[in-house]
Amino acid sequence: MPNIAVLPGDCIGPEIMNAALEIFKAAQQVTNTNYTIQSYPFGGAAIDAVGEPLPASTLAGAKAADAVLLAAIGGPKWNDAKERPEAGLLKIRKSLNLFANIRPTKITPGMVQYSPLKPDIAKNTDFVIVRELTSGIYFGQPRRLGTADAVDTSHYTEAEIKRILEVAFTMAQSRQKHVTVLDKANVLATSKLWRQVAATVAPNYPDVTMDFEYVDAAAMKIVSNPTQFDVIATSNLFGDILSDEAAAITGSIGTIPSESRGIAGPNLYEPIHGSAPDIAGKGIANPIAMINSVVMMLTNTFHDTQTAGVIQNALNQTIEAGTLTPDFGGNATTTSMTTAIIKAIEATKESAYVKTT
Ligand code: NAD
Ligand code: IPM
Ligand code: MN
Repeated sequence: MPNIAVLPGDCIGPEIMNAALEIFKAAQQVTNTNYTIQSYPFGGAAIDAVGEPLPASTLAGAKAADAVLLAAIGGPKWNDAKERPEAGLLKIRKSLNLFANIRPTKITPGMVQYSPLKPDIAKNTDFVIVRELTSGIYFGQPRRLGTADAVDTSHYTEAEIKRILEVAFTMAQSRQKHVTVLDKANVLATSKLWRQVAATVAPNYPDVTMDFEYVDAAAMKIVSNPTQFDVIATSNLFGDILSDEAAAITGSIGTIPSESRGIAGPNLYEPIHGSAPDIAGKGIANPIAMINSVVMMLTNTFHDTQTAGVIQNALNQTIEAGTLTPDFGGNATTTSMTTAIIKAIEATKESAYVKTT
């Protein structure tokens, strides 16, 4: 039986995780599938329980699973912790060797009205950010915090750049066949190396075109001409920043899922947003990104397009009916939205039943 390690995390994390798991359970009833779910403490919740954000038992559970499903971690309560929740997140990514983080931004016709961009600019937005996740300035040494100065180090090896670019080029082959490498090669040595390596990788994918853009200009184009992008390949920090910007095109950061993958072992699926401490406990967190993370997991790890499709259709119907949380200007709660999606899933079951009898 497929086995999923679930990490609800902090603040809105458990709220959206519960919603997504209830929806997932309802969909399994329709498709007669059965996934085993095992929950583990992670982030601030684990600091409170055992004094560290990534307990050994959580890491062992994640390693042994077929996939890891994470909601979000962090919050003001733990900002001064010796080891913060965020350190646990970096550690699990590194320990599972999840070097490629796939962050898709896609707007469906029904969602265009919610975009802060003009409809003509937002419509047909469909690009993927392939973010390097286990190197760059997030992990480079030395790293030092003093009172008079501080140091972070941006470091990339040729091998690290090559493997992330290969993920981006391979992805482009099954999309619009274009890769844009975003960097700051007018200033940074690591960016210059990205361009050198890209020039050696690109010829192996003759069906894919490639161009380079500076990240500052690209940040502008993501909101002024988002449809120019297909696959964006970029470093850890740039990918982090640009994916939140990209999410805003859809009307809320609460919609975009992500997949982190490595060489072997389980992939990790999580929303790109954080734990939203400002709305935690209010019951209004948007569950869409978490639900989309389940859909992405079912599709990419378990190849269960049937269960994924049942969830996706019910979600689309619910969005089209205007059942949306306050971040979209709606008045649904996390629970009422979840109930509406489950109702739509159960209707699928009834119509399937009618069809076969
Ligand atoms: P955030 O993404 O949590 O929130 C930014 C804004 O978006 C907030 O106003 C929040 O209310 C809103 N928002 C985010 N997700 C939402 C949702 N599902 N529904 C409705 N509104 C939503 O970013 P932040 O406030 O900068 O960070 C809060 C904490 O989350 C920090 O501790 C940060 O380190 C952590 N964080 C964790 C992850 C993760 O677990 N992968 C990712 C990003 C940030
Ligand atoms: C994300 C988050 C994390 C990151 C933080 C919480 C460490 O912002 O997943 O986008 O910077 O990678
Ligand atoms: Mn981020």
